[in-house]
Amino acid sequence: MKMTIDRITQKKSAGIPITMVTAYDFPTAQVLDEAGIDSILVGDSVGTNHLGYASEREVTMDDMARHTSAVNRAVRDAFVVADLPYGGADNAEKALANAQRLIDCGADCVKIEGWGEKADIIRHLAENDIVVCAHIGYNPQLHDKPQIFGKDAGQAAELISGAQTLCDAGAKLIVLEMLPNGLSRKISAAVPVPTIGIGSGNACDGQVLVVNDMLGLSKKLFKHVYRFANQREKMFEAFKDYIDAVKSREFPGDDHSWK
Ligand code: KIV
Repeated sequence: MKMTIDRITQKKSAGIPITMVTAYDFPTAQVLDEAGIDSILVGDSVGTNHLGYASEREVTMDDMARHTSAVNRAVRDAFVVADLPYGGADNAEKALANAQRLIDCGADCVKIEGWGEKADIIRHLAENDIVVCAHIGYNPQLHDKPQIFGKDAGQAAELISGAQTLCDAGAKLIVLEMLPNGLSRKISAAVPVPTIGIGSGNACDGQVLVVNDMLGLSKKLFKHVYRFANQREKMFEAFKDYIDAVKSREFPGDDHSWK
């Protein structure tokens, strides 16, 4: 059954954790969907994880549209969230046009990075029937390097009121990135919409991981990531085996040839 924002919100009320993973391509989205993931995020992390860019800031609307379409072609049930890339939500009209483009590519919701200052843009999108996911804490588009936010009382208070402001403006989901456990717990209790954590402890209403990190495709291991597979090693071994089999003429053997 297709996951909707209402069903995701009901999970918060029922205390059922919400699952989200990023995907950027058809086969990965298909496997995630078949595995029963609640939501797939076509994140702008596509830039560094899939396209070889040095930073998320290089990701364009054309990149997001292409990858959102690929994911959408694979998905039957999962709720698809797509990122508005760097500069894509500079003003309300531009944000609406870009959001509409991603919705036309199959996204159910668009995600916008930024704290309280993004409230007017989120309100404009919500008034135009776009489901919006806010994203606070560490924002890769806006902050130069990863760090924990909200460690001091002043910034923690700013994040709590910022989250409330974004929800009042119409955000229906909110990603909390790199916040201390206790602060995520407070924000999750304070806002009516589901919070989805990354590097923000287990008190959030749901969790998201970048697919390359959780599958062990990334070379770097971040503290907030558990590797659920060692895909890079498995791929390396498979490629070596193939190279050896071709070189030794073992492949293709009779089983894979026609007489
Ligand atoms: O682009 C992305 O992958 C994200 C997650 C880190 C939440 O925004």
